[in-house]
Amino acid sequence: MTDRIDPALPKAELHLHLEGAAPPAFIRGLAQEKSIDISKIFDERGGYAYRDFWHFLQVYEAACTTLQSPEDFRRLTLAVLEDRAADGVVYAETFLSPDFCGGGDLVAWREYLHAIESAADEAERTLGITLRGVITAIRHFGPEKSRQTATCAVETAGRFITGFGIAGDEKAGHPRDFTWAFDCAREGGLRLTAHAGEWGGPDSVRDALDHLKVERIGHGVRAIEDLALVDRLAEDRIVLEVCPGSNVCLGLYPGFAQHPVARLRDREVIVTLSTDDPPFFHTTLRREYDALAAAFGWTEDDFRAINADAMRAAFCDEATRDRILKIIEGRA
Ligand code: HPA
Ligand code: ZN
Repeated sequence: MTDRIDPALPKAELHLHLEGAAPPAFIRGLAQEKSIDISKIFDERGGYAYRDFWHFLQVYEAACTTLQSPEDFRRLTLAVLEDRAADGVVYAETFLSPDFCGGGDLVAWREYLHAIESAADEAERTLGITLRGVITAIRHFGPEKSRQTATCAVETAGRFITGFGIAGDEKAGHPRDFTWAFDCAREGGLRLTAHAGEWGGPDSVRDALDHLKVERIGHGVRAIEDLALVDRLAEDRIVLEVCPGSNVCLGLYPGFAQHPVARLRDREVIVTLSTDDPPFFHTTLRREYDALAAAFGWTEDDFRAINADAMRAAFCDEATRDRILKIIEGRA
């Protein structure tokens, strides 16, 4: 496909899973170094292989078994940021899970975080990409684990760790099971987001808003099935972290042209664009923009406006927000 949108357009993405952004060759290399046999998670061309969303979660967790030390996460963070910077990303927020970084133990988590943050600082200096971390509980690991995760989040909240959320199997449990974790994170000064409205219908979005009191929703696209909810999202300025290519790849919609992102935007919901787990879904932000330009006739001005909205909704300090906004709006 030829580029429709200038590939160098400065981009911001708010919804990126760190381990899910791992280049498959990087994970294969780690597996070889440690003699871990995870050959079954790759297809014949070396990409990640899975059947559906629930199998994807299993493959994801199998890939994570190769990430065993802070040094592995330092290398992972650098590899991911090199790819994102090559995609034109100047600001990203990444989901981080203490569960995959020392099993949720706070002392271990601090060491992993130090390694991730030092890689992010290096990438900012050398590649001009700024990263912030949003700690996520894994929904199918249950409420007890989510309390431990929230504690890790609050203990390490600051310049780099700025948000808290929940990912994993959207059909496991109910948002009300996780209110303790979200209340704890909010009281600890963290900004909040939750995956909803991808595998769950509009009620899952309503439940995330009512029980977890989040200001952003990861995906949220199935709100389109209930126009009263769409109006509520627009009025309350709830920001959607939309990942169209992820939804198309996992079969939620047959193609970009059928994806509700344009209808949500037309109804004045604040939408932002992200890649979720880019190598798993064979995507980059450049590919997302080109596919959306083809499907809906969106122009560079549309993407610049969407990126500016993403920065206004970013969980970062005001000086960082202003600095990146200038880049995105061509004022730097
Ligand atoms: N969705 C939900 N949970 C996840 C994902 C995702 O794309 N990636 C890793 N955990
Ligand atoms: Zn996600």
